[in-house]
Amino acid sequence: MEPFSTLIRTASHEQHAEAEASAFMGDLLGGRLGLTAYARYTEQLWFVYEALESAVERLAADPVAGPFVRPELLRLPALERDLAHLRGPDWRAGLSALPATLTYADRVRKCAERWPGGYVAHHYTRYLGDLSGGQIIRDRAEKAWGFAKKGDGVRFYVFEEIANPAAFKRGYRELLDAMPLDDLGRQRVVGECKRAFALNTDVFRALGEEFPQSA
Ligand code: HEM
Repeated sequence: MEPFSTLIRTASHEQHAEAEASAFMGDLLGGRLGLTAYARYTEQLWFVYEALESAVERLAADPVAGPFVRPELLRLPALERDLAHLRGPDWRAGLSALPATLTYADRVRKCAERWPGGYVAHHYTRYLGDLSGGQIIRDRAEKAWGFAKKGDGVRFYVFEEIANPAAFKRGYRELLDAMPLDDLGRQRVVGECKRAFALNTDVFRALGEEFPQSA
Protein backbone atom coordinates (compact mmCIF):
# COMPACT_ATOMS: atom_id res chain seq x y z
CA MET A 1 0.00 0.00 0.00
CA GLU A 2 1.19 3.51 -0.83
CA PRO A 3 2.59 5.35 2.21
CA PHE A 4 -0.07 7.65 3.61
CA SER A 5 2.29 10.66 3.48
CA THR A 6 2.62 10.17 -0.28
CA LEU A 7 -1.11 9.73 -0.72
CA ILE A 8 -2.04 12.88 1.19
CA ARG A 9 0.60 14.90 -0.62
CA THR A 10 -0.34 13.80 -4.12
CA ALA A 11 -4.06 13.93 -3.40
CA SER A 12 -3.85 17.56 -2.29
CA HIS A 13 -1.49 18.64 -5.05
CA GLU A 14 -4.19 20.31 -7.11
CA GLN A 15 -5.59 22.21 -4.11
CA HIS A 16 -2.06 23.33 -3.25
CA ALA A 17 -1.57 24.76 -6.72
CA GLU A 18 -4.91 26.54 -6.45
CA ALA A 19 -4.07 28.08 -3.06
CA GLU A 20 -0.69 29.17 -4.37
CA ALA A 21 -2.28 30.73 -7.45
CA SER A 22 -4.73 32.88 -5.50
CA ALA A 23 -4.56 36.56 -6.33
CA PHE A 24 -3.93 37.55 -2.74
CA MET A 25 -0.94 35.20 -2.41
CA GLY A 26 0.40 36.38 -5.74
CA ASP A 27 0.09 40.00 -4.68
CA LEU A 28 1.66 39.26 -1.31
CA LEU A 29 4.60 37.46 -2.85
CA GLY A 30 4.86 40.03 -5.64
CA GLY A 31 5.30 42.83 -3.13
CA ARG A 32 2.14 44.56 -4.34
CA LEU A 33 0.40 44.72 -0.99
CA GLY A 34 0.77 47.16 1.85
CA LEU A 35 1.56 46.38 5.43
CA THR A 36 -2.14 46.69 6.30
CA ALA A 37 -2.95 43.71 4.09
CA TYR A 38 -0.13 41.67 5.59
CA ALA A 39 -1.35 42.50 9.09
CA ARG A 40 -4.90 41.56 8.12
CA TYR A 41 -3.66 38.21 6.84
CA THR A 42 -1.58 37.62 9.98
CA GLU A 43 -4.66 38.40 12.04
CA GLN A 44 -6.64 35.72 10.18
CA LEU A 45 -3.90 33.20 10.94
CA TRP A 46 -4.27 34.02 14.62
CA PHE A 47 -7.84 32.68 14.59
CA VAL A 48 -6.83 29.51 12.80
CA TYR A 49 -3.92 28.76 15.13
CA GLU A 50 -5.98 29.60 18.16
CA ALA A 51 -8.38 26.85 17.06
CA LEU A 52 -5.56 24.42 16.29
CA GLU A 53 -3.56 25.06 19.42
CA SER A 54 -6.23 25.44 22.06
CA ALA A 55 -6.87 21.74 21.46
CA VAL A 56 -3.34 20.46 21.99
CA GLU A 57 -3.49 19.85 25.69
CA ARG A 58 -6.49 17.61 25.36
CA LEU A 59 -5.28 15.89 22.20
CA ALA A 60 -1.77 15.17 23.48
CA ALA A 61 -2.95 11.85 24.90
CA ASP A 62 -5.04 10.91 21.87
CA PRO A 63 -3.70 7.79 20.10
CA VAL A 64 -4.28 9.26 16.61
CA ALA A 65 -3.57 12.99 17.00
CA GLY A 66 -1.29 12.83 20.04
CA PRO A 67 1.96 11.97 18.23
CA PHE A 68 1.57 15.11 16.06
CA VAL A 69 1.26 17.43 19.02
CA ARG A 70 4.73 18.94 19.41
CA PRO A 71 5.61 22.05 21.38
CA GLU A 72 8.17 23.18 18.81
CA LEU A 73 5.38 23.67 16.27
CA LEU A 74 3.20 25.99 18.34
CA ARG A 75 2.70 29.26 16.47
CA LEU A 76 0.35 31.27 18.63
CA PRO A 77 3.03 32.99 20.77
CA ALA A 78 4.94 33.98 17.62
CA LEU A 79 1.77 35.25 15.95
CA GLU A 80 1.00 37.33 19.01
CA ARG A 81 4.42 38.96 18.93
CA ASP A 82 4.01 39.67 15.23
CA LEU A 83 0.60 41.21 15.78
CA ALA A 84 1.89 43.37 18.61
CA HIS A 85 4.59 44.59 16.23
CA LEU A 86 2.19 45.13 13.33
CA ARG A 87 -0.76 46.58 15.20
CA GLY A 88 0.67 47.87 18.45
CA PRO A 89 0.12 46.88 22.08
CA ASP A 90 -3.68 47.02 21.75
CA TRP A 91 -3.75 44.52 18.91
CA ARG A 92 -6.00 42.16 20.82
CA ALA A 93 -8.82 44.69 21.16
CA GLY A 94 -8.96 45.15 17.39
CA LEU A 95 -8.92 41.48 16.37
CA SER A 96 -11.53 40.63 13.81
CA ALA A 97 -12.05 37.51 11.78
CA LEU A 98 -13.39 37.46 8.26
CA PRO A 99 -16.45 35.21 7.84
CA ALA A 100 -14.31 32.76 5.86
CA THR A 101 -11.83 32.65 8.73
CA LEU A 102 -14.56 31.91 11.25
CA THR A 103 -15.78 29.07 9.05
CA TYR A 104 -12.25 27.69 8.85
CA ALA A 105 -11.58 27.99 12.59
CA ASP A 106 -14.95 26.42 13.41
CA ARG A 107 -14.17 23.44 11.24
CA VAL A 108 -10.79 22.98 12.93
CA ARG A 109 -12.42 23.19 16.33
CA LYS A 110 -15.10 20.68 15.37
CA CYS A 111 -12.49 18.20 14.19
CA ALA A 112 -10.44 18.77 17.34
CA GLU A 113 -13.48 17.91 19.43
CA ARG A 114 -14.87 14.97 17.51
CA TRP A 115 -12.47 13.53 15.00
CA PRO A 116 -8.73 13.28 15.70
CA GLY A 117 -8.00 12.08 12.15
CA GLY A 118 -9.63 15.21 10.76
CA TYR A 119 -7.61 17.30 13.18
CA VAL A 120 -4.44 15.72 11.81
CA ALA A 121 -5.54 16.71 8.29
CA HIS A 122 -5.73 20.35 9.41
CA HIS A 123 -2.51 20.04 11.35
CA TYR A 124 -0.67 18.69 8.32
CA THR A 125 -2.09 21.31 5.97
CA ARG A 126 -0.93 24.18 8.15
CA TYR A 127 2.29 23.15 9.82
CA LEU A 128 3.90 21.26 6.97
CA GLY A 129 3.01 24.16 4.69
CA ASP A 130 4.46 26.68 7.13
CA LEU A 131 7.68 24.70 7.27
CA SER A 132 7.84 24.67 3.46
CA GLY A 133 6.32 27.50 1.44
CA GLY A 134 6.07 29.62 4.58
CA GLN A 135 9.78 30.27 4.28
CA ILE A 136 9.26 31.87 0.87
CA ILE A 137 6.57 34.13 2.33
CA ARG A 138 8.90 35.13 5.16
CA ASP A 139 11.65 36.10 2.77
CA ARG A 140 9.29 38.28 0.70
CA ALA A 141 7.75 39.88 3.78
CA GLU A 142 11.16 40.80 5.20
CA LYS A 143 12.06 42.46 1.93
CA ALA A 144 8.72 44.15 1.26
CA TRP A 145 8.18 45.68 4.69
CA GLY A 146 11.68 45.78 6.10
CA PHE A 147 11.25 43.46 9.05
CA ALA A 148 14.42 42.30 10.75
CA LYS A 149 15.44 38.94 9.36
CA LYS A 150 13.45 36.34 11.31
CA GLY A 151 12.40 39.12 13.66
CA ASP A 152 9.19 40.77 14.83
CA GLY A 153 6.60 40.73 12.06
CA VAL A 154 7.69 37.37 10.63
CA ARG A 155 8.18 35.28 13.76
CA PHE A 156 5.23 33.17 12.70
CA TYR A 157 7.43 31.75 9.93
CA VAL A 158 10.40 31.06 12.19
CA PHE A 159 10.48 27.74 13.99
CA GLU A 160 13.17 28.54 16.54
CA GLU A 161 13.22 25.05 17.95
CA ILE A 162 13.35 23.19 14.65
CA ALA A 163 16.97 23.32 13.57
CA ASN A 164 16.52 21.07 10.57
CA PRO A 165 13.12 21.49 8.88
CA ALA A 166 13.85 18.86 6.23
CA ALA A 167 14.57 16.27 8.92
CA PHE A 168 11.53 17.39 10.87
CA LYS A 169 9.33 16.95 7.79
CA ARG A 170 10.73 13.46 7.28
CA GLY A 171 9.82 12.56 10.84
CA TYR A 172 6.39 14.07 10.34
CA ARG A 173 5.80 11.96 7.25
CA GLU A 174 6.75 8.88 9.25
CA LEU A 175 4.07 9.80 11.77
CA LEU A 176 1.57 10.13 8.92
CA ASP A 177 2.60 6.73 7.61
CA ALA A 178 2.14 5.18 11.05
CA MET A 179 -1.41 6.46 11.50
CA PRO A 180 -3.74 3.60 12.37
CA LEU A 181 -6.07 4.03 9.39
CA ASP A 182 -7.84 1.59 7.13
CA ASP A 183 -8.57 2.46 3.53
CA LEU A 184 -11.78 4.33 4.29
CA GLY A 185 -10.10 6.18 7.15
CA ARG A 186 -7.31 7.26 4.80
CA GLN A 187 -9.82 8.52 2.27
CA ARG A 188 -11.66 10.51 4.92
CA VAL A 189 -8.48 12.18 6.18
CA VAL A 190 -7.45 13.02 2.62
CA GLY A 191 -10.92 14.48 2.06
CA GLU A 192 -10.50 16.67 5.13
CA CYS A 193 -7.11 17.80 3.91
CA LYS A 194 -8.66 18.92 0.63
CA ARG A 195 -11.29 20.72 2.64
CA ALA A 196 -8.54 22.39 4.70
CA PHE A 197 -6.92 23.68 1.52
CA ALA A 198 -10.28 24.92 0.24
CA LEU A 199 -10.87 26.74 3.54
CA ASN A 200 -7.51 28.46 3.12
CA THR A 201 -8.34 29.40 -0.44
CA ASP A 202 -11.64 30.88 0.74
CA VAL A 203 -9.79 33.07 3.24
CA PHE A 204 -7.42 34.20 0.45
CA ARG A 205 -10.42 35.00 -1.73
CA ALA A 206 -11.95 37.14 1.01
CA LEU A 207 -8.63 38.90 1.59
CA GLY A 208 -8.32 39.45 -2.15
CA GLU A 209 -11.69 41.15 -2.16
CA GLU A 210 -10.62 43.41 0.68
CA PHE A 211 -7.28 44.22 -0.97
CA PRO A 212 -7.97 44.01 -4.71
CA GLN A 213 -4.50 44.73 -6.08
CA SER A 214 -4.43 42.48 -9.13
CA ALA A 215 -7.86 43.53 -10.30
C1 HEM B 1 2.30 31.05 -2.47
C2 HEM B 1 2.14 30.27 -1.48
C3 HEM B 1 2.83 28.95 -1.31
C4 HEM B 1 4.05 28.54 -1.74
C5 HEM B 1 5.07 29.34 -2.51
C6 HEM B 1 4.21 27.17 -1.32
C7 HEM B 1 5.32 26.40 -1.55
C8 HEM B 1 5.54 25.15 -1.07
C9 HEM B 1 6.75 24.41 -1.25
C10 HEM B 1 7.98 24.88 -1.99
C11 HEM B 1 6.59 23.21 -0.64
C12 HEM B 1 7.62 22.12 -0.53
C13 HEM B 1 7.29 20.93 -1.34
C14 HEM B 1 8.24 19.83 -0.98
O1 HEM B 1 8.62 19.67 0.19
O2 HEM B 1 8.59 19.11 -1.89
C15 HEM B 1 5.26 23.22 -0.07
C16 HEM B 1 4.73 22.19 0.65
C17 HEM B 1 3.52 22.25 1.30
N1 HEM B 1 2.63 23.28 1.28
FE1 HEM B 1 2.84 25.00 0.29
N2 HEM B 1 3.10 26.79 -0.64
C18 HEM B 1 2.24 27.85 -0.62
C19 HEM B 1 0.99 27.88 -0.07
C20 HEM B 1 0.48 26.89 0.71
C21 HEM B 1 -0.80 26.97 1.39
C22 HEM B 1 -1.75 28.14 1.34
C23 HEM B 1 -0.95 25.80 2.05
C24 HEM B 1 -2.09 25.36 2.91
C25 HEM B 1 -2.58 26.10 3.85
C26 HEM B 1 0.23 24.98 1.79
C27 HEM B 1 0.45 23.74 2.30
C28 HEM B 1 1.55 22.95 2.04
C29 HEM B 1 1.75 21.62 2.58
C30 HEM B 1 0.81 20.86 3.48
C31 HEM B 1 2.99 21.18 2.11
C32 HEM B 1 3.67 19.86 2.42
C33 HEM B 1 3.47 18.84 1.32
C34 HEM B 1 4.12 17.53 1.72
O3 HEM B 1 5.32 17.43 1.62
O4 HEM B 1 3.40 16.61 2.16
N3 HEM B 1 1.06 25.69 0.98
N4 HEM B 1 4.64 24.42 -0.34
